[in-house]
Amino acid sequence: MDALSIANKLVAAAHVRRRIQGEIFCIVSAAFPEAFPDAFNLPHCGAKSAKCLTVNKRSNASLVDMPRRLLTFALYNRAFATKLQCKHCRNDQIMTATVLDFLLSRRSSKPALMAEPGPSPEQVRQILTAAARVPDHKKLVPWRFIVFEGASRAAFGEKLAAVLPTEDAETPSEVRLQTERERFTRAPMVIAVVSRVAQPEKVPEIEQMLSAGAACMNLCHAANALGFGTSWITEWYAFSTGIRDVLGLRDGEAVAGFIYIGTAAETQPDRDRPDLDAITEYWQP
Ligand SMILES: Cc1cc2nc3c(=O)[nH]c(=O)nc-3n(C[C@H](O)[C@H](O)[C@H](O)COP(=O)(O)O)c2cc1C
Repeated sequence: MDALSIANKLVAAAHVRRRIQGEIFCIVSAAFPEAFPDAFNLPHCGAKSAKCLTVNKRSNASLVDMPRRLLTFALYNRAFATKLQCKHCRNDQIMTATVLDFLLSRRSSKPALMAEPGPSPEQVRQILTAAARVPDHKKLVPWRFIVFEGASRAAFGEKLAAVLPTEDAETPSEVRLQTERERFTRAPMVIAVVSRVAQPEKVPEIEQMLSAGAACMNLCHAANALGFGTSWITEWYAFSTGIRDVLGLRDGEAVAGFIYIGTAAETQPDRDRPDLDAITEYWQP
């Protein structure tokens, strides 16, 4: 078994105890540096990681601020691993820069440019776990997810094509109906994030809907961190009464977004970003 397989097995075994993934990755990458050339990109870090291994044997506590977050991040985001260093090389600063890099360079991908593969079942779980890890006033869980994959995407497209003529003022052309049939097959996976407002007397509706928006964004970030492109869109069917029934939406529920997920065939050029000075002020009395 090669080093990478061993590492993957260890990491899989540690899956339920995610907090130790970082240490395992550190240990494995120290033991098999050749398998993780990008995990510790500076040659002198090899010795330091070996030291981490020694420390780990003595006490887990001394690893508390070891590069756990950093390495967990590395596990989930190989694309950024080249920028990671072990803690002996001021990893906190590097970590900040890495997350910032991620946030400052994020960009949606067009559904039309998404190809296979989509996320694996395990990756979908990771993505949804991240999506569900958002601020949520009074822990109402004001959102839920509906996953479309495989044949259910085309089946949903048939529903779109069936509902559209009943709601559109004009009779849709055959070309338009075909577009609807193929809408969800543009990407390997689509996840609907449904906002569900409960007990608005306890937590204002806007707060619950914002939490659903945060779930959408976290979902996108997690999928992006796993290397997938995402597109958060609504389009007409998010607001269609006929499609509400198809989705089984209940009172107080609304589609916060349909998140298309797939392998981006190409990276889109950046779009214009807002002039921060025009939208930011420092309040003074
Ligand atoms: C709630 C919401 C709904 C959206 N719906 C649509 C849509 O229906 N069609 C569309 O072309 N873009 C829609 N967008 C915008 C896309 O997400 C757009 O591609 C994205 O803002 C591009 O910017 P980015 O690269 O910074 O993500 C929506 C965005 C949000 C937040």
